[in-house]
Amino acid sequence: MKKTPITVAHGDGIGPEIMDATLKILNAAGAPLEITTIEVGQKLFERGVMTGIEPASIEAIRATGVLLKAPIFTPSGGGYKSLNVTIRKLMSLYANVRPCQSYHPYIEALHKNMDLVVVRENEEDLYAGIEHRQTQGVVQALKLISRPGCERIIRYAFEYARANGRKKVTCMVKDNIMKMVDGLFYQVFEEISADYPDIQKDRYIIDIGAARIASRPQDFDVIVTENLYGDIISDIAAEVTGSVGLGISANIGEQCAMFEAMHGTAPDIAGRGIANPSGLLLGAIMMLTHCGHGKAAETVHNAWFKTIEDGIHTGDIYREGTSRQRVGTAEFTDAVIARLGKKPTEMKAVSYPDGKGGIKIPALKPVVQAKKEWIGLDVFIEYNGKADDLAEKVKPALASGLELSILTNRGVKCWPKGSSGTFCTDHWCARVLGKADTAKLVETLQKLEKAGVTVVKNENLYSFDGKDGFTAAAG
Ligand code: NAI
Repeated sequence: MKKTPITVAHGDGIGPEIMDATLKILNAAGAPLEITTIEVGQKLFERGVMTGIEPASIEAIRATGVLLKAPIFTPSGGGYKSLNVTIRKLMSLYANVRPCQSYHPYIEALHKNMDLVVVRENEEDLYAGIEHRQTQGVVQALKLISRPGCERIIRYAFEYARANGRKKVTCMVKDNIMKMVDGLFYQVFEEISADYPDIQKDRYIIDIGAARIASRPQDFDVIVTENLYGDIISDIAAEVTGSVGLGISANIGEQCAMFEAMHGTAPDIAGRGIANPSGLLLGAIMMLTHCGHGKAAETVHNAWFKTIEDGIHTGDIYREGTSRQRVGTAEFTDAVIARLGKKPTEMKAVSYPDGKGGIKIPALKPVVQAKKEWIGLDVFIEYNGKADDLAEKVKPALASGLELSILTNRGVKCWPKGSSGTFCTDHWCARVLGKADTAKLVETLQKLEKAGVTVVKNENLYSFDGKDGFTAAAG
């Protein structure tokens, strides 16, 4: 079989130990891979490379389209960037896929029969890190959600479910509160799910959804959600399997994919030869199926199941009573190699076809172009004082045809007729309604400045096909 070129990064801490173990097993299984090794992480940070990766290594990843990566140390503070986030963004790895399975009774788990996959959007949401300090007392983070971004991840979740014989996709959002951004995610979920009548669909508000993952994870199959929620629930899901050390994280894009273990560099046990290589090995198995080497993936996965079933466990999962032999990284590796070609007898053996390759999603639908009209302004103001006084300053400064509708503070209406109990910060919003244009905006901003009103930002208000493209204030 033709060898598939991949890029490998050995990482920091226990990274080199678990990567060596993983590659030894893949090699023994005859996985047809042609490996290019790159240096990333700590050594690069020490040489002053703030991103932790050289441009030539980025090109190597691009050229192979597949990266198998051991964990990397991220320095705290300073201008250092998280290398994981850098790679995700540079390669547009839009889907983060985290299978979370319990291996009861061989590995102690809180829940005995859970087997779910979190499909997390990887590029948008609050993770874009667009933050501003606007006043002395208020900072903001922008949550941007796009229709194509939603469609891509939701389609990926359904295609993943289909390709992996999964029965149900559950959407988790908070659209009762974030009616527009989370509302869009759910609306797109509703639209896209109609194209997959063979897959059941389900929906949870994220808070109760997260609680249910902790209490009844067996109710879930594939979960699709936004970036931040996905970050949180995938850790909850991994934790309740009883073995964060076995968690996998695959980051999938159209041109590139990165596979890794969920855990970090485990500096407390680095260099001691006791690290569990299973998380990275399971990531490598996902990589093999992604590359179309299903049979090699199947051989390694079944050998791993058999090793676990035989009670040969590294210290992190070793338990008196259930485990038979406590082993280090090297012995565990040899035990898996000795079982290549064998299948588990109690746990379910897996079977992956050759040549299937990664999941391809259909072309995205073009965004429908609605009639967009500029119908007002949200003018954000830094101000300490009473709402009534601010209203009297703002009203005369508005260009003709514009009218002050309400003043809000952190989204709560304070004028007209605000509640005396509302706690106000120095960050106000004057909602101004009326047909607007650039000239009126400039005139208003100039007049506000002359009146001594400090504008910190402006948000244009639009209607789309006659429907307001903004939310109402609370109260
Ligand atoms: P960690 O996951 O490295 O360690 C947490 C605990 O789990 C430690 O007690 C460790 O010994 C244990 N552990 C983790 N993996 C294990 C394994 N394979 N076998 C046996 N025991 C294992 O988390 P921590 O300490 O918060 O982070 C350490 C470093 O790793 C930080 O610099 C962090 O930025 C980095 N990190 C990197 C990640 C990546 O590259 N994907 C992900 C998470 C953290």
